[in-house]
Amino acid sequence: MSTVQAILDDAIEWKTWTSDAGMLAFLTDLQSNILKGHGRDYTANIFLSFEGMPQEKISALLQTLSYLTTSALDQLRAAAAYSATKVSGGRVLCVFLTANGYQRLGVAQSDMPADLAFRAGMQARGALPSLRFKNIPVDFPGINDPARSGWERGGPWDPGKGNPDAMVLIADDDAGLVSAGVNSLKDAFMDAGVTVLGVDRGEAQRRRQLNGSPKGEGLEHFGYVDGVSQPLFLVEDFRANPAWSEAFVPSQFIVPDPAKCTPFSCGSYFVYRKLEQNVQLFKKQEEELAAALKLTGNDEERAGALVVGRFEDGTPVALHPEGQAGVPTNDFNYAGDNQSDPLTATCPFKAHIRKTNPRTAGDDNERAHIMARRGITYGKRNRESVDEDFSDHDQPTGKVGLLFMAYMSDIAEQFEFTQSAWANNTNFKIQNTGVDPVIGQQPNGPADIAWTDAITASSAMFDFKAAVKLMGGAYFFAPSISFLQKGQRPIAVAALQ
Ligand code: HEM
Repeated sequence: MSTVQAILDDAIEWKTWTSDAGMLAFLTDLQSNILKGHGRDYTANIFLSFEGMPQEKISALLQTLSYLTTSALDQLRAAAAYSATKVSGGRVLCVFLTANGYQRLGVAQSDMPADLAFRAGMQARGALPSLRFKNIPVDFPGINDPARSGWERGGPWDPGKGNPDAMVLIADDDAGLVSAGVNSLKDAFMDAGVTVLGVDRGEAQRRRQLNGSPKGEGLEHFGYVDGVSQPLFLVEDFRANPAWSEAFVPSQFIVPDPAKCTPFSCGSYFVYRKLEQNVQLFKKQEEELAAALKLTGNDEERAGALVVGRFEDGTPVALHPEGQAGVPTNDFNYAGDNQSDPLTATCPFKAHIRKTNPRTAGDDNERAHIMARRGITYGKRNRESVDEDFSDHDQPTGKVGLLFMAYMSDIAEQFEFTQSAWANNTNFKIQNTGVDPVIGQQPNGPADIAWTDAITASSAMFDFKAAVKLMGGAYFFAPSISFLQKGQRPIAVAALQ
């Protein structure tokens, strides 16, 4: 029988649960969406405050939620059934707690997730002027988040409201069922005395591509295929994508649950950021960058690809001078580049996907910062079908964006490192690279930076201004299901070994 350490140290072959009691116990107690994205097109993220509730009531509420929570095993079996039958796996429900939520529950310090960034919370960490990371004795730029007073008004992040203690995520392929789920939970919350701070609704945007998924590839609002590059850690998944996914071990995304309700209880740290996208500004700047680089005709599309690192259809700019409609590729690195020369780089060092995953061949230190991204878009667009692009006449300046969500085992070394040491650092990967043009948050305002198109060898100074703004967010932990069930009470551990 596998031990929990053995499970976390090697790629997970989940189907062994039928013969391995350790794997069965691990998968039954781990929440869904961590090992693999739930893939549903509609979500509701319900943010809760436990203020004023006695600990027993919070504990009873979590116990009720535990019976509704989807386990990793439920999710993986439903996905296998869907592949065989095309019958939807139905609803997925996940529960998350902030450090404040743990405190209100009265959990012993030793049973509470220890990550320092988690305990401090996103707002406190986002306001720090600089950050330091493991084994690197220099200061990096702070996350530079806007203050709470600048967050979205009216919803869960309204500056007049308190911070969330918990989040419940409901996901389904049927928007009506998600709404029904929210309504029935709201009744239960009201009975328990919980304050619902608000609900963020996610709605996937899709576009069907040649040889791609019949459902269509997931798009973000700037029009690019998203969710392509994922660290796979299920043996069953990376058998199909062996080249770069293989080296990720589950312990990079999953940690033992400190409450140790069973010897196999695990959880994961979770970063939630509501990022609003100004589509009009982004698209206008793509055109201006193309003009500045004198890119015309088919080459014009390359301006956006230099910004993102992929064409809209997902083709990596490092592999092709033009998009190649089809299934987006992920098995590549930048090994052919002269790592110090922007003139010959196949993908600009400042491109979003190079800033957030530099893909230096064989560099495990770089790969240690990768997170398991599980985001979904929010907001409406006026499209008739999944065969259409977003229209040029439908370019919102707000109210649409990305609910960025990611699982990891260390918030500072993964999310914060990516945002601070890479995205916000003008000198990464080489001097004067500039900040990440998609998510960079810089304290000193915009600046002209040299852009180069290696194909035409054309260069121009251009200031690609931020079109993404943080509207709210928090650091959470997705505890084991047995923790939700048993809360802070002493646990009689079942005889599993
Ligand atoms: C509205 C905000 C954002 C937009 C529009 C956006 C868009 C995209 C797109 C189009 C891709 C390429 C598709 C893919 O490889 O999956 C991508 C990849 C990626 N993004 Fe973002 N993203 C956003 C926020 C973030 C944030 C906040 C982070 C982390 C701090 C992040 C980290 C990544 C990473 C790690 C990749 C994969 C890079 C690779 O492995 O090649 N993104 N993003």
